Amino acid sequence: MKVCLYFFSGTGNTEKIALCLKRAFGEDTVVYKMVYPFAAYPNPNDFDLIGVGYPIHAFNAPKVVNDFYKRFPKADKPKEYFIFKTSGEPLRFNDFSSRELIRSLKKKGYACIQEFHYIMPYNMVFRHSDSMAKKMWIYAQKMVDLNVRKILSGKVRTLRFRPFQGWYTVPFRVEWPFASANGRFFKVEEGKCVHCLRCVRSCPLKNIELKDGKITFGNRCALCMDCSFSCPQKAIVPGVFAGKWLINGQYRLEQLEKDGAIPIPSKSHEAHFNKAYDRYFAECDEALRAFPPQNP
Ligand SMILES: Cc1cc2nc3c(=O)[nH]c(=O)nc-3n(C[C@H](O)[C@H](O)[C@H](O)COP(=O)(O)O)c2cc1C
Repeated sequence: MKVCLYFFSGTGNTEKIALCLKRAFGEDTVVYKMVYPFAAYPNPNDFDLIGVGYPIHAFNAPKVVNDFYKRFPKADKPKEYFIFKTSGEPLRFNDFSSRELIRSLKKKGYACIQEFHYIMPYNMVFRHSDSMAKKMWIYAQKMVDLNVRKILSGKVRTLRFRPFQGWYTVPFRVEWPFASANGRFFKVEEGKCVHCLRCVRSCPLKNIELKDGKITFGNRCALCMDCSFSCPQKAIVPGVFAGKWLINGQYRLEQLEKDGAIPIPSKSHEAHFNKAYDRYFAECDEALRAFPPQNP
């Protein structure tokens, strides 16, 4: 089966899931990371199945993701796709984040066969403990493996689009205009910045430039937080998200996974949503028991 995975990722969580999916489907799977100006992407009509990945922002898909699929070519013949999305919280509120996306792809002849939601460490609001980040990463990988086995064995049921479900996500789309407005207020603390240009190179919207010796921000910000999250100097102040909502520093997930000294907690003890995390892990365990690998 020829598979192509299209995804947007700010701080790397969705990208990590895309790469796990690629491994699970087979190394000839094509992966396209959305980077401005979103040109020269593989033609979906050349594939049997496509995957559409994004991080949840304010209970919705980021605007840049929805806009990308509005411009997507029509399917030559009815085509199936699945969604893989990542978020920091396993709240039910996140369940309907793909409403807009499913609606616009349906108009173009694409049928969503399943939506897979992977909980990955939060990149804003609060930082997860290393042990929780490790647990999330281990579960996400197991769930990728399970979900791919389900797709390949035809054990997914086609999603029915229910237009009135998840209406409450609509007011949160205020994040869409807000993201680009807030982007104008990003700034760099000149005393800290060493002009390594990491932010300029890796901004997926190519919204950051070095002009006259200063880092400047344009009006395309998608609030993905990559620049401030990964700045080695903690020099970026992300508009109103400065202060306690700002998290700086990549989670070293692969290292955490290998580090036997970091325990995997049986119960969550994070800053918020502990019941929801425990419910998510319990649901993953149940799904894994129901569909165990043939050669574990
Ligand atoms: C602006 C913004 C809004 C977010 N909103 C939500 C949200 O509504 N629900 C949630 O669970 N996580 C939310 N998150 C967390 C991200 O979805 C999560 O960290 C995701 O895995 C990041 O993926 P990425 O590294 O591929 O960008 C938000 C993150 C950002 C930056």
